[in-house]
Amino acid sequence: MAIKKVGVVGGGLMGSGIAQTAAQAGYDVLLAEVSQELLDRGMGRINGAWDMLTKKGRITEEQAGEYRGRIRGTLDMRDFADRDLVIEAIIENMDEKKKLFSALDGIVPAGAIIASNTSSLPIIEMASVTARQENIAGLHFFNPAPVMKLVEIVRTIATSDETTEALREFAQSLGKTPIIAKDTAGFVVNFLLIPYMLSAVRMYENGLATMDDIDTGMKLGCGYPMGPFELLDYVGLDTTLYAAEAIYHEYPDPAYAPPTLLRRMVQAGRYGMKTGKGFREYAEKR
Ligand code: 3HC
Repeated sequence: MAIKKVGVVGGGLMGSGIAQTAAQAGYDVLLAEVSQELLDRGMGRINGAWDMLTKKGRITEEQAGEYRGRIRGTLDMRDFADRDLVIEAIIENMDEKKKLFSALDGIVPAGAIIASNTSSLPIIEMASVTARQENIAGLHFFNPAPVMKLVEIVRTIATSDETTEALREFAQSLGKTPIIAKDTAGFVVNFLLIPYMLSAVRMYENGLATMDDIDTGMKLGCGYPMGPFELLDYVGLDTTLYAAEAIYHEYPDPAYAPPTLLRRMVQAGRYGMKTGKGFREYAEKR
């Protein structure tokens, strides 16, 4: 099936990044949020990225204008009635996701694909509330979505070959490299990345090295662009904790058990760059 019109639900960090990427690749994009304030914030983030790219000379004013012309915001989910693909990027809460999938199933055309950007929740559970399980899959982007080259396509036990192929072509058209993962907690990347980040927290918690030395160690010793604490603050401590809990729920292996310090920091509201404070402090909230 040919995907031309894309809907994104949720204008947070991931949703706005996905919408931006799709508009840049030539798709007609509709971004939905639950309030005008959140929608303005999401659209503001996208327009800010295009301003930044224009200033840096990476894109022309004309290109930025074309991108802007391809994206609209809405507060009304019924506007998704003409979408070929809808990508869900709302909070990591299964009840909320099921409500959304059920509503979208009654709105989007027969045959349209509904995909979730969840980092760790089971896709089949979202699919179970729809009458189109074969058209549902995970489409997991990485932060920052416009820059990171990978997309995980998550096939459930019900996802059809046609849906997988359509998503593969869609991901490639965005300039991404897709990999196929099974619908198991953590998929491919987080199954490996989460225990790495949790180990860094445990190492620091147990006084084995300083935070700066752990970050420097992994950047200079392994060539990672960010150390684990930089990455934790960047991805969000809340997001990391939810992902760890989801994986631990499915695989009760101590490697996936969230360390107490991570829990306490999330309980304290120290989510990282998005709240201005995480393992380090930031002048501006992101
Ligand atoms: N849109 C388009 N381009 C953007 C952009 C945006 N929103 N934001 C940044 N860029 C571009 C910049 O213009 C720049 O391009 P240039 O080199 O042509 O000038 C390039 O991206 C790099 O940006 P910066 O110069 O601002 O910053 P850095 O060079 O320090 O790179 C980084 C920043 C790409 C974030 C790099 O540090 C990195 O790769 N970090 C690791 C990120 C990572 O591991 N992400 C995965 C997290 S896990 C996840 O998301 C899964 C989830 O489920 C938990």
